[in-house]
Amino acid sequence: MLISIPDLLTKAEVAAFRAEMDKAEWIDGKATAGEQSGAVKHNQQLKEDSPLGRKLGDNVLDALARNDIFLSAALPLKIFPPLFNRYQGGEHFGTHVDNAIRVVRGTPVRIRTDLSMTLFLSEPEEYEGGVLVVEDNYGTQEVKLEAGSIVLYPSTSLHHVTPVTNGARVCSFFWLQSMVRDDGQRTLLFDLDTSIRSLAGEQGVNHPEVVRLSGIYHNLLRRWADT
Ligand code: NI
Repeated sequence: MLISIPDLLTKAEVAAFRAEMDKAEWIDGKATAGEQSGAVKHNQQLKEDSPLGRKLGDNVLDALARNDIFLSAALPLKIFPPLFNRYQGGEHFGTHVDNAIRVVRGTPVRIRTDLSMTLFLSEPEEYEGGVLVVEDNYGTQEVKLEAGSIVLYPSTSLHHVTPVTNGARVCSFFWLQSMVRDDGQRTLLFDLDTSIRSLAGEQGVNHPEVVRLSGIYHNLLRRWADT
C-alpha cells in the first residue's frame, strides 16, 4: 500500500527547515547506501550524525507522533532517524530495493525496514523531474508531492527517482519497522480503522456497532502485532 499524507509539516515549518539546510554542508549520498543501491545512487545528503540533521530529524519525528493518519497507517515500532537529501544538476537514483536491515549509527539498534518514507521539502514547481517511481502490487505509481507532504510505501518495492534536470529537489527520507510486519495485514487494519473513525463521526463513539468494530480492530491488532 502506498499512502500520501498531506501537510505533515506546515509551509512555515518547511521554510524554516530549508533556511537551515540551504546553508549546511552536503556530502555524497552514497554514504548510507548498500552495494547495489550505491552503484545507482547519485545525490547529496546532510551528514548522518550532523547536529543540524539530528535536530531537523527530531522535528520530523515530533510531527509524525502528532499525526493520526501516519500512526494508523504505519503502526510504527521503531523509526530510523530521518536523513535529508538533495538532487540537482541531473542527479537521480536508479532502480533499487532499500536495505532490509538498518543499524542506527553509534547504537546497537537494528531496524527492519517495512515502510520507506519520503517527506517533500521542495514545492513541485521548484524543480523539473525528480519523480519518485514505485513499483508496487498495483503497478507503477509516480509520486511528486507538495512541500510538507509525505509518502509511505512498502520497503519491499523496487523504486527509483528520475533525474532532476532543473532546480533542486530537497527531501527527508527514512524507514520504519512496523508492529505489523505484513503489508496486507497492515493495510486491512488501516482500512478498518479509517472506517471506524468515519462511522464514529456519524454515529458517535459509543454506538454499539462502533464499539463492536473497535473490538474487532484491537483483537486483530493483538493477533498480528509484535512489540
Ligand atoms: Ni530507496
